[in-house]
Amino acid sequence: MLMFVISLATFVCASTARPSENYLENRFASENKSQEVRSAAIKRLLEVFGMDDPPAIHGHKQPPQYMLDLYNTVADVDGVTKDPYLLEGNTVRSFFDKLRSEQVEFSFNLSTVARTEKILTAELHLFKLRPHGSFSRHHFCQVSVYQLLESSITNNTQMKKLLSSRLIPVHSNGWEVFTVTQAVRSWMMDEGNNLGLHVVVRTLGGSQIDMKLIRFASERSHHQSKQPMLVLFTDDGRHSAPLESKDPSDTTASSTLLQLLMSGPSSRSTRSLDYSEEEGVSMPCQRQPLYVDFEEIGWSDWIVSPRGYNAYHCKGSCPFPLGQNMRPTNHATVQSIINALKLIKGIETPCCVPDKLFSINLLYFDDDENVVLKQYNDMVAGSCGCH
Ligand SMILES: *[C@@H]1O[C@H](CO)[C@@H](O)[C@H](O)[C@H]1NC(C)=O
Ligand SMILES: *[C@@H]1O[C@H](CO)[C@@H](O)[C@H](O)[C@H]1NC(C)=O
Ligand SMILES: *[C@@H]1O[C@H](CO)[C@@H](O)[C@H](O)[C@H]1NC(C)=O
Repeated sequence: MLMFVISLATFVCASTARPSENYLENRFASENKSQEVRSAAIKRLLEVFGMDDPPAIHGHKQPPQYMLDLYNTVADVDGVTKDPYLLEGNTVRSFFDKLRSEQVEFSFNLSTVARTEKILTAELHLFKLRPHGSFSRHHFCQVSVYQLLESSITNNTQMKKLLSSRLIPVHSNGWEVFTVTQAVRSWMMDEGNNLGLHVVVRTLGGSQIDMKLIRFASERSHHQSKQPMLVLFTDDGRHSAPLESKDPSDTTASSTLLQLLMSGPSSRSTRSLDYSEEEGVSMPCQRQPLYVDFEEIGWSDWIVSPRGYNAYHCKGSCPFPLGQNMRPTNHATVQSIINALKLIKGIETPCCVPDKLFSINLLYFDDDENVVLKQYNDMVAGSCGCH
């Protein structure tokens, strides 16, 4: 990802260093060619977001409120991470129950979780309903969540393993969260282990309680916003995943991507900057807006939030002498001196590039229409410097 941003930045640096007319001519030489490059660019951008193909979305589902709230807690309106220490990993996945049973049994299909993803925490979220009218002499009940295991062949009993157990007020109403990390880890090791979860409610004395008294919302008979849900907090290990250049056309793809993004709402300011450059006024290295519009790229059907984000880009010259406001590295300072003294031929001025990068968050539907929150590092230029 870092390499991706830098390759964009390198393009900017190169294009300010020499005339870009040739590039533009080539770009419009063949409409078909540019379509090819455009799709290569978009494919490349998908790789930045860790995907091979855009998820196929069939209908419009409402994302779980929990995921929307979580997104708004970790990200600002632009998707930029508010506090990088709020989430332990970089991915949160939500799953709806596939069993849709009237019993308190649940099953979740985790096929979209990559084998390499590290399971940090898994939670079963159940919405507890108020008891049906009847008066109860019980104030508390014991709610236990079990992992269903292979039934024993010899005596045909359903084996189960206790995952989590807690006292809950009988008359309460709202979300109850149970930790089921152990079960999910075992399911990730062997899919065949995934026989689902079973919830048992008992009195404090240990006897089974009437399930009319303690009820949890189910997908069949209650509103979508109260559906049972599994929430996984994971880490995919891609912290600053470098994108290896796979073929030489990659640089064209990156620069087309930049053109594509630049043709968005910020195009006017970009054009006026080019104009001032034509007059020979070269502005010093600084951060400029670069809005990445997901709707324009054609991704708005699977991305819930944000609609786009400001990636910013670094533009301008790094001439001698480099002031501290240019945030030069020592290396850049020496290079600008060599350039100014013309001691050695072919030494350019340093490049104006991002020197601080922030992460963004994406809330999206995956291939199985589960809602996923993912954090991507190094996506927004926080500041620019001469390097
Ligand atoms: C360009 O693409 C169109 C269809 O998209 C095709 O009909 C046409 O032959 C192509 N032109 C060239 C030069 O490949
Ligand atoms: C889980 O979902 C995937 C993709 O939708 C599907 O191919 C697979 O058969 C499902 N597994 C189970 C056990 O239902
Ligand atoms: C059934 O078999 C399992 C071992 O396979 C054993 O742990 C369990 O106690 C048995 N249950 C009964 C009721 O015999």
